[in-house]
Amino acid sequence: MRETISLLQKKRLEYVPRVPKSLKNLNEVSFVPDEAKPPSENLKKLFPHTYGQKAYRLAKGKGEALKPLKVGVVFSGGQAAGGHNVIAAIYDAITQFDPKSKVIGFLDGPRGIVNNQWTELKGGQIAEVRNQGGFDLIGSGRVKIETPDQLASSLKNVQEHELDGLVIIGGDDSNTNAAVLAEYFIGKKCKTRVVGVPKTIDGDLRSEDIEVSFGFDTACRTYSELIGNIARDACSAKKYYHFIKLMGRSASHITLECALSTRPNLALIGEEKKSLEEIVREIADLVCRRSEAGKDYGIVLIPEGLIEFIPEMKAMIAELNQLFGHQQALTSEKASDLLKGESRALFSNLPEKIQKQLLLDRDPHGNIQVSQIETEQLVMDLVKKELKKRSEEGKYKAKFSAQEHFLGYEGRAGMPTNFDANYCYALGLAAATAIRDGLTGMICSVQNLTRSPEEWNLKAVPIIQLMHLETRLGKEKPVIEKALVDLEKGAYVRFSRARKSWELEDHYRYPGPIQFFGDPDITDAVPLSL
Ligand code: FBP
Repeated sequence: MRETISLLQKKRLEYVPRVPKSLKNLNEVSFVPDEAKPPSENLKKLFPHTYGQKAYRLAKGKGEALKPLKVGVVFSGGQAAGGHNVIAAIYDAITQFDPKSKVIGFLDGPRGIVNNQWTELKGGQIAEVRNQGGFDLIGSGRVKIETPDQLASSLKNVQEHELDGLVIIGGDDSNTNAAVLAEYFIGKKCKTRVVGVPKTIDGDLRSEDIEVSFGFDTACRTYSELIGNIARDACSAKKYYHFIKLMGRSASHITLECALSTRPNLALIGEEKKSLEEIVREIADLVCRRSEAGKDYGIVLIPEGLIEFIPEMKAMIAELNQLFGHQQALTSEKASDLLKGESRALFSNLPEKIQKQLLLDRDPHGNIQVSQIETEQLVMDLVKKELKKRSEEGKYKAKFSAQEHFLGYEGRAGMPTNFDANYCYALGLAAATAIRDGLTGMICSVQNLTRSPEEWNLKAVPIIQLMHLETRLGKEKPVIEKALVDLEKGAYVRFSRARKSWELEDHYRYPGPIQFFGDPDITDAVPLSL
């Protein structure tokens, strides 16, 4: 009979995640109160029950009396490698607490909680997805649970299932959902505790306590392999500029991490907030200087979220979002009519294709769909125009040939690196322990991630500590604040010191594919920006 899974899939099923020392025997540890940073004052009214909660850290000591637990799990938002290990760990932990414990998976994201679409996840099924990528075990989705009807049906469904806990595996918007549900359930005297797990390849769900979200490492390594390959092609053929857009909805963490590991000639970082004119001039200058040095090829990285950081674009998108708050659908003509002053002029000058992409429906959380906007093409076309002008003025003599790429979905669902496999397993064990210990409205946090997994520390942090009020689709909403690249410290400072030397000399690095076997310096590496 033909094997239905690949040999590597099979080998990865056998991988045993490395577990922090403190999680080796869950019956001998429990979460104890710890200091928490006070949440934003204006959230008090919206979260009367969960406002002011303490944070918790895992320490030696017995938790709540052991009994069978019933825990619901849900994936929310975009795929991120390692999610299946979170569920596997929850299953392992609660069946270790009591073999009669059960995990139920809500199907296709938060919609499954609202509509009561679910399946019980048994050991055999979970065994088939250990250390595998994707969210296909139960699917995912982007529904935001916020209307009174959605909240009421979620309550009814978790009560019907008699859930002790609900684990929401998601990014900033999904963990906002977790905070809202935790608050609502307490208000309705429902016993179901809600715990979040930090997922998103974007790496923008970070705080003092959350060092990185899971999936970021696998995504960046997948993209870096491909960027390295493209760079090698570029300096072999010596005839193309490659404009590579990288996924990452808002913050430029992915681009920064990939830049550190591949050393492109130029990497744009959205948070630098350059105008479109500055960006085009910077790239055109680079192309001219490289051409004078005999190099008519190069690598330019563009973060997917760049468009929202360009000040004039940001103002225009904010105006469009306001319009979306009042309109069902917007056509290019209608948008041009309704926009004012500079935004109207900017919108009207954009290629029709980009106008249409800017007008695609916002997601249920009010986010613009940046992955659908061909920023790489916009930038490339404007650079082409600028170089044409310079060549007419006799300032540029070479032929400019460019290729565009979008590295996005191929990075989200690959087999998790050892780092993500271990990290996710630790997060799942922590989530199950938090539920056993009666915590709600918390997000799990694993600390000391640059050390070996055995040395990692576990915490549970109140989600509202990460939240603030933000305008979405024209209305003020409590949401988790996206953590942007910090231009004052850490990875960005290392990048900005090194990048000048990457412009003319080619210092490309070729990280190669993710490795699962061999030298631990390679197989167990952690993200460079940590
Ligand atoms: P999350 O914030 O849900 O983790 O999603 C991340 C992401 O991959 C972004 O990088 C990207 O812009 C977006 O999802 C794409 O969304 P979709 O899968 O709905 O096209």
